[in-house]
Amino acid sequence: MEKEEKKVTGAYEKAAEEGIDPRCIPQTLNSLPPVGDEIVTPHYSKEENDVWGYLYNRQTGLLEGRVCDEYIKGVELMGFSGKEIPSLKKLSSVLYEATGWRVGRVPGLIQAQNFFNLLRDRIFPSTDYVRERHEIDYTPAPDCFHDIFGHMPLLTNPNFANFYQKFGEAALVAKGEQQIFLERFHWFTVEFGLITNSAGRRIYGAGIVSSFKEVDHALGSEVQVIDFDPYKITSQEYEVWHLQPILFSIDSFEQLEEGFNYWAKKEGILN
Ligand SMILES: [Fe+2]
Repeated sequence: MEKEEKKVTGAYEKAAEEGIDPRCIPQTLNSLPPVGDEIVTPHYSKEENDVWGYLYNRQTGLLEGRVCDEYIKGVELMGFSGKEIPSLKKLSSVLYEATGWRVGRVPGLIQAQNFFNLLRDRIFPSTDYVRERHEIDYTPAPDCFHDIFGHMPLLTNPNFANFYQKFGEAALVAKGEQQIFLERFHWFTVEFGLITNSAGRRIYGAGIVSSFKEVDHALGSEVQVIDFDPYKITSQEYEVWHLQPILFSIDSFEQLEEGFNYWAKKEGILN
């Protein structure tokens, strides 16, 4: 692995420096990953499909009444089932039809610039391997259950889809402290976001949606919930390895898109 140049370190880099699992250290992509129809679906073993099925059934039960409608609509479009791991190629065509996003198959966590380039091009980087059974409750690095079940459904929502592309665009020009601001923004929305509307408070962040422990915790009384405010989010520190004590709630995905655009333009990182 190439030695990284010295820069302001965020929560992930700090964790990696502290000797955390090497799967958490981002890899550099030297070329564009296979996208959409270029993706070859692996032949999954019965055990791999069973692990997916176990996670799918358990999490689907947990999410009832706790996840936002936009996520549920996305799941319906994608046609997930507990029978087998969905093919990235098929999911990519569903996304393309809904919002013009596609899926790119990546080998694991990827380096930030690679990641942002893909987002800017409306390509969602996804793994295609599933965690092993002994890691069923917690895996330190993303697997396809997190990437597919956690992230993809919301990318069928036009406001979220536009926001995420703009995020990639802004992240490519952010410098120094702005990179940390964006890392926090991503954490408190894409990964750990809540939404409160007429249906009540619901979850939408992939880190909660795909986690056995976070679903209950995120909507419980131990969490302090702050109304969405880009300036508060970008000044809020977080820790990767614990249940989250502070979360932010949007009132709509329009608010998320507009709020991000407003903030990023003021920062001079978005046209
Ligand atoms: Fe994620």
